[in-house]
Amino acid sequence: MLVLGIETSCDDTSAAIIDSEEGILANVIANQNSVHAKYGGVVPELAGRCHIENIHEIINKALLKAKVSLENIDLLATTQGPGLVGSLLVGVNAGKGLAFALDKPLIGVNHLEGHLLAIFLQETVSFPFLALIVSGGHTDLYIVKDFGNYELLGRTRDDAAGESFDKVAKMLGLGYPGGPEIEKTAMTGNPTVIKFPRPMPNKKSMDFSFSGLKTAVRTHLEKRSSGKIDKFSFADIAACFQDAVTDVLVSKAMLAAQDNNLDRVVVTGGVAANSDLRLKMTKVGKEKGISAHFPKPVFCTDNAAMIALAGLKKYQRNPDLGNNYFELDAVANLPLIEH
Ligand code: KG4
Ligand code: ZN
Repeated sequence: MLVLGIETSCDDTSAAIIDSEEGILANVIANQNSVHAKYGGVVPELAGRCHIENIHEIINKALLKAKVSLENIDLLATTQGPGLVGSLLVGVNAGKGLAFALDKPLIGVNHLEGHLLAIFLQETVSFPFLALIVSGGHTDLYIVKDFGNYELLGRTRDDAAGESFDKVAKMLGLGYPGGPEIEKTAMTGNPTVIKFPRPMPNKKSMDFSFSGLKTAVRTHLEKRSSGKIDKFSFADIAACFQDAVTDVLVSKAMLAAQDNNLDRVVVTGGVAANSDLRLKMTKVGKEKGISAHFPKPVFCTDNAAMIALAGLKKYQRNPDLGNNYFELDAVANLPLIEH
């Protein structure tokens, strides 16, 4: 079965073709970094407009790369939420238009389910496992019991981990997106010279909180510019900040895995591309007998291959869903688990 996936939830326009037997045939991604860089963050209005400009070309590129024509597509899958509504609407409407024109089923996919299943684009991890989604909008811990069966253990109470990377990068005058910039800058820094807080709102709770850490960096920078403290380099500050974020993520994920008797952890979402996080999670996991799994960086950040896969799994669970797409709407805060 050939699936065309579409992802436009934030600022990446992506289209992918996957074959249920052979895997990924194409995964084309166009970022909008140059558009948003000067604002230090995504400008929703501009993001939506960029998706409109790019979507057809990106879908065509994916078809060309996969060497398939639209008529050969058996199933369409598009991100329905959560995300920026103006961005989501572009992908949802592109999906609806194609489904109607081709008379093919269309599945609306939860973006978070895409991230949770991205690991299956490259390897099989047996159920159940612990999943940590760390992205620009989310920092969530789930038990993944099966395809479509997820239990939320905890989430951030304020900023998402990726958001804190982006905000601290902005404070340091680095580019956007902030995560890769902080990672690059931190490479020449010493992660031990400043002890930023490791926020754990409550040892028993599986929730996160990153706004205090962000404030600690801001306060440090203010004191630094008024000459009240040692003038550490931006590389040191970036390294110490990154060390604090990754310490918190690793210790909470390990705690959650142990509490739930899980010996596999999957780390996914944009921040999972961070090599300090990958190294630390793998090392600490080894000490505790917990294996750490990460999608390749290109599958960690937003991509349509994960949406095509999640759409295919959802369709296989309930093929009827594919015919009810006229009611499909973009939902900015779409919950992963319906109550
Ligand atoms: O999953 P994603 O592409 O989009 C959302 O669903 O939010 O994640 C984007 C986030 C941004 O905050 C970005 O700064 C962060 O992931 N990110 C990173 C790295 N690459 C992307 N954070 C830390 N280190 C990285 N290498
Ligand atoms: Zn994402």
